[in-house]
Amino acid sequence: MIPLDLFEDPPPDAEALRVPLAPGAVLMRGFALEGDAELLQAIESVIAQAPPLHWQTPGGGTMSVATTRCGPVGWVPGGPDGGHHYAAQHPRTGRPWPAMPGCLMDFALCAASEAGYPQFVPDSCLINHYAPGAKLGLHQDKYETDLRAPIVSLSLGLPAVFLFGGFQRSDRSDRYRLVHGDVVVWGGTSRLRFHGVLPVEDGTHALVGRRRLNVTFRKIGR
Ligand code: SIN
Ligand code: FE2
Repeated sequence: MIPLDLFEDPPPDAEALRVPLAPGAVLMRGFALEGDAELLQAIESVIAQAPPLHWQTPGGGTMSVATTRCGPVGWVPGGPDGGHHYAAQHPRTGRPWPAMPGCLMDFALCAASEAGYPQFVPDSCLINHYAPGAKLGLHQDKYETDLRAPIVSLSLGLPAVFLFGGFQRSDRSDRYRLVHGDVVVWGGTSRLRFHGVLPVEDGTHALVGRRRLNVTFRKIGR
């Protein structure tokens, strides 16, 4: 006899869109596809007000990724030991960071909820601009005060290989190809897992052009 609940399972394609990475961490393939043009427009408006910069690494190097941000809490990359540091204004324009556009906030709430974090309200949104060849070494996101809140990460434009590892830098990491519209959320016991991005291959995306944009929503809680 076929168990009845077999018919209540989600259709296989819906399941394939939801890839568990670890407890508390999920890749939701194509989750942002529907509103991609509106999201891109909101990101472009932030970029126009606060152009992405190549911040310094603690070792005195320069990041290959260019970063900007929006939302009330002004943290940017390049603090001691690879974390973030507080910057009240954009260093080049001298203006405060732009407010978080409503559609980005709505998106973050919706994605977090879908991933099992219905309480999440971000106060900061980092925008990483990857030109072809740009990468992000393995790191932990640990400069947020409230580590109970997850990280919500939205990828647009060129594909990239996302590394998702363990709790030591030397732990083996799994590789996932993230494409335009993919969303990764990690929290709970996976909140401090090391992660990174391999160098982005050259190409052109029909909507976004010759770049990858990654937006991470965070609750810094200062
Ligand atoms: C990050 O680790 O902050 C960004 C990850 C990504 O670009 O996918
Ligand atoms: Fe990160």
